[in-house]
Amino acid sequence: MKTAAVEQAAQIIREGGIAAFPTETVYGLGADAFQPFAVARIFEVKRRPFFDPLIVHIARREDISGLVREWPEEAETLMDRFWPGPLTLVLPKTDRIPDIVTAGLPTVGIRMPRHPLALELVRRAGGAIAAPSANRFGRTSPTTAAHVREQLGNGVDFILDGGPCEVGVESTILTFEEGRPVLLRPGGTPLEEIEEAIGPVRKGSVAFGSRPQAPGMLERHYATHTPLWVIPEGGPPPTERGRWGLLAFRRAREGYAAVEILTPCGDLREAAARLFAAMRRLDEEGLDAIAAELVTDHGLGRAINDRLLRAAARQTA
Ligand code: TXA
Ligand code: MG
Repeated sequence: MKTAAVEQAAQIIREGGIAAFPTETVYGLGADAFQPFAVARIFEVKRRPFFDPLIVHIARREDISGLVREWPEEAETLMDRFWPGPLTLVLPKTDRIPDIVTAGLPTVGIRMPRHPLALELVRRAGGAIAAPSANRFGRTSPTTAAHVREQLGNGVDFILDGGPCEVGVESTILTFEEGRPVLLRPGGTPLEEIEEAIGPVRKGSVAFGSRPQAPGMLERHYATHTPLWVIPEGGPPPTERGRWGLLAFRRAREGYAAVEILTPCGDLREAAARLFAAMRRLDEEGLDAIAAELVTDHGLGRAINDRLLRAAARQTA
């Protein structure tokens, strides 16, 4: 454990600063959830619109009672099964949470990450860190400390380096409407496992042009600078002229100027962990366009396809 570095980051957060830190999903940019001015700086640095609420990260189950008014039994079941881990629950908030954190919404997203540095940081920083992914708004989430440095560089007070993120896509977000579970964002906890625990969950569509379900689920998100198009796995190469790159699920193919393979053996966990870094590498190749293969649409594949479709939304909107 990098105790000195964690304590340095925690001190910065306690004193009203902002620090990037690793979680098992992606790097977050954190501030003390109870200090509105500190939280405001996150929005400034990310250039994130104030209508897009932040997730509050906790390290101890008992801390949610100060943050959330009430929660259904199913939420309790999910906490038992998936926390710490990549699952965010959106629940009715208490008055203790400043409005800026939730963009004025009566609910708050709560998650207990399972990365040991994140847990230790939350504990030392006071128990509740408000943090979005540590990228510029609308861009690909960082899965290494170097990604954070590239995008936010001097804008943050500290970057706690915990190496590459294990899961690689953001947490699954779930809420309850009239007591019924609703999926707001597919992510690192597979929907199938959630349904196994609490029964059927109503799903948001990941189709092109779908309306955003969570305020931050804008169509064009996770974007590369290079135009990105989704294609079926093994689909024909694009006919448009120019230098194309391929973000391949399993196999490289002829006719592309650059290729990134997510997982030669078809392991969706490996694909998720490599996704954002592979998108970044292709983005740096100076290509005219990127063709990205959709992956098997179950388990973590849902989260991967969701991010690819959102990255491609500019081309179809
Ligand atoms: O894995 C993750 O969730 C990462 C790590 C850092 O924890 N965090 C993350 O945060 O992805 P962010 O801000 O990039 O995405 C959070 C999403 C946003 O789309 C936001 O709109 C939604 O969660 N959200 C947060 N609070 C909400 C609420 N009260 N109601 C509906 N959506 C909410
Ligand atoms: Mg984000």
